[in-house]
Amino acid sequence: MIREAKIYVAGHGGLVGSGIMRKLAQHSYKNIIYRTSRELDLQDQNAVNQFFATEQPEYVFLAAAKVGGILANQNYPAQFIYNNLMIEANVIHAAYTYGVKKLLFLGSSCIYPRLALQPIKEEYLLTGELESTNEAYAIAKIAGIKICQAYNKQYKTNFISVMPTNLYGPNDNFDLASSHVLPALIRKFHEAKLKQQSSVGIWGTGKPRREFLHVDDLAEACIFLMDHYDGGNPINVGTGIDITIAELAALIAKVVGYSGHIRYKVDMPDGTMRKMLDISKVTLLGWKARISLEEGIRSTYQWYIQEFYKNKIGGEFSFE
Ligand SMILES: NC(=O)c1ccc[n+]([C@@H]2O[C@H](COP(=O)([O-])OP(=O)(O)OC[C@H]3O[C@@H](n4cnc5c(N)ncnc54)[C@H](OP(=O)(O)O)[C@@H]3O)[C@@H](O)[C@H]2O)c1
Repeated sequence: MIREAKIYVAGHGGLVGSGIMRKLAQHSYKNIIYRTSRELDLQDQNAVNQFFATEQPEYVFLAAAKVGGILANQNYPAQFIYNNLMIEANVIHAAYTYGVKKLLFLGSSCIYPRLALQPIKEEYLLTGELESTNEAYAIAKIAGIKICQAYNKQYKTNFISVMPTNLYGPNDNFDLASSHVLPALIRKFHEAKLKQQSSVGIWGTGKPRREFLHVDDLAEACIFLMDHYDGGNPINVGTGIDITIAELAALIAKVVGYSGHIRYKVDMPDGTMRKMLDISKVTLLGWKARISLEEGIRSTYQWYIQEFYKNKIGGEFSFE
């Protein structure tokens, strides 16, 4: 992408989209367009076509999606499959129709089979059953990859799909009803510290292993892959390091300064027992993550206190 290229970041206000916006600015890209979902509902095909016809973006980062943790995925599977299918189909088709040079579609590591060999290689896609807790979301994300591949094959487009591992960072979702594990733990420990709670309850056994990537590292990878990767085969982006949820909880409690007891609610679902991506492909291309987990959690906690906790929530909290 040349610095003057017209770039559309779909989902610019979200965790991933805002990370991409920060990195594009750091790399001196100036011609960036974006819309909130209120200004442009990407589920509305006519509105999407009109936007592409008027704006004629050359590059698209498709980071708009309906995203959530286990609870939200279990409660709203219809919304997770419908919203994501609509967004992907509309944006990818419009990108083809209006001659976008390159589109980067963001998928997720949950597209891979529940019992995939570890670390998970890109070619394991569609080789086994999906994790049931987020199947609807995963099916929609797999469809996004397949739409990119089909358009590349039939229409000779250049649409790529990036599969990040679990992400965290500024602008993450800290709402306990829909958040992922890392921001949820930051909030739980912070609130428990303030209220001097003697213990904090955590879903599951604490035994599953997960990999976490700071969103600034992912954003750097996305810009790198726009420049250095072609073709419809998905490409994984992660750190190559995983830890147990119990280790993560201990690390977050340390960063937040919570010294109470951690209780594991073993009757709640664990999700997949291990999920770590094989990152050989992106590593061979010359990219690697730079932000350590502790450093990333520290800066995210600072962001949470300064931006989210102070400005957006302020007053009372509900506790379990
Ligand atoms: N978070 C993770 O751990 C993670 C991990 C792997 C992959 N990913 C992938 O990264 C992508 C982005 O995730 P995220 O965590 O950044 O999500 P997020 O923080 O929830 O942000 C989602 C963004 O999508 C926009 N959006 C949602 N519905 C829309 C609609 N109908 N029309 C227009 N815009 C809409 C939202 O815009 P408004 O705010 O204006 O409504 C928001 O900017 C997803 O594809 C996800 O699968 C995320």
